[in-house]
Amino acid sequence: MVVKINITVIGTGYVGLVTGTCFSDLGNRVYCVDIDENKINALKKGIIPIYEPDLEKLVVKNYEKENIIFTTELEISLTNSNICFICVGTPASDDGEADLTAVFEIAKNIGKLMNHDMIVVTKSTVPVGTGDKIKSIISKELKDRGVEYGFEVVSNPEFLKEGTAVKDSMRPDRVIIGSDNDKAIAILKELYAPYVKNHERFIIMDIKSAEMSKYASNAMLATRISFMNEIANICEKTGADVNQVRLGVGSDARIGYSFLYAGCGYGGSCFPKDVKALIKTGENVGYTPKILKEVERINQNQKYVIINKIKKHFGDDLTGLKFAVWGLSFKPGTDDMREAPSIVIINEILKAGGSVKTYDPKSMELSKTILPKDNVEYVSKRDQVLDNCDALILVTEWNEFKSPDFNKIAKTLKSPVIFDGRNQYDDEVLSKFGIKYYRIGR
Ligand code: UDX
Repeated sequence: MVVKINITVIGTGYVGLVTGTCFSDLGNRVYCVDIDENKINALKKGIIPIYEPDLEKLVVKNYEKENIIFTTELEISLTNSNICFICVGTPASDDGEADLTAVFEIAKNIGKLMNHDMIVVTKSTVPVGTGDKIKSIISKELKDRGVEYGFEVVSNPEFLKEGTAVKDSMRPDRVIIGSDNDKAIAILKELYAPYVKNHERFIIMDIKSAEMSKYASNAMLATRISFMNEIANICEKTGADVNQVRLGVGSDARIGYSFLYAGCGYGGSCFPKDVKALIKTGENVGYTPKILKEVERINQNQKYVIINKIKKHFGDDLTGLKFAVWGLSFKPGTDDMREAPSIVIINEILKAGGSVKTYDPKSMELSKTILPKDNVEYVSKRDQVLDNCDALILVTEWNEFKSPDFNKIAKTLKSPVIFDGRNQYDDEVLSKFGIKYYRIGR
């Protein structure tokens, strides 16, 4: 394939690594830059720091083809590129505000090191107005150096989901380009064109609206989930069933079915952090976002719904009881444990005197570094978890947990009871097996 565009991607986390790899797969030459030397050395050997379907084979293939270069040398990368993507993390600070230290540090370095004109694209989720700050930082550095290179700052938020990140990048619902510069817009359109056959998927807007679109999208999805969790909690007290209600609500074409699943709370690196950051953005300009505050509060509470059901069944003191836990990651398809409901549920069981035996297809090694060591046992097979346990808790709906051998569960658990945080099973089927079944919203 012919090399088309030379690109620098700064940051090799979820967004950077997936973005860089997908651009390289189109035949572009991509410099993936990170300050973490160990990570870069591992990537050169084909060791991927995260689990993400299809990513490893694409990285290896394109590294062998020399379409991807892994490096810690930002200067060389920028020298060889005309476009650079900022893809570093913007974690929540203690007060919920997005921490932009890494983004601003990179802007400074770009200003210090660029030696020709450059398009600087922010893919990291950044609060409204960050693009302008990046512009000022780069301008100042160029001025201090006494050089006059042209540059444009563009917002191009990333909407990929963990677990389907490669697919999402290669088939985006939309590509938002926040810029008023025709040349920068044209280059980004050219770059994305192979992944966006239908050009109507490009949405061009001003940079601030592009920055806000990312937060508003995540906040809307988080709101739908918290809304359904709230409905689920009302269902539990009124005798309605949230599973049925979801069908009744989602069938309205104006609403749709997706992101209406009640559960034991949303986790991950984006929803919790972005809802908090958007609240902070509002507060910083004198506006208190009331809905968003409740979205966040409902989600915190929702992580306790399962433990409350456990205590209602067994009593507050769980001493001597052992709980089988299926799934640890915040959702299926990833090993990511950030803000995972499993952390809250397991810690609460331990606090109440119980112990835990667990299995997750991908995140057990990571969990060992996050969960308490005492009274948490890890096993390597789904059904092994059940031995000597009093009850089963489903926390993450991996495929292999979706249609288990209920007969075996009924026979192996000491008192056959399942607490389902993801509403995966059929109440009638479980009752036939003599299993007491607790789920969300019924
Ligand atoms: C999210 C956004 O979807 C993505 O566009 C953005 O770029 C990053 O944040 P991600 O965090 O990878 O992606 O996961 P997602 O699939 O959106 O799920 C987030 C959380 O919501 C998970 O904990 C999931 O279990 C939960 N969820 C999702 C529900 O509880 N109910 C639902 O109906 C959907």
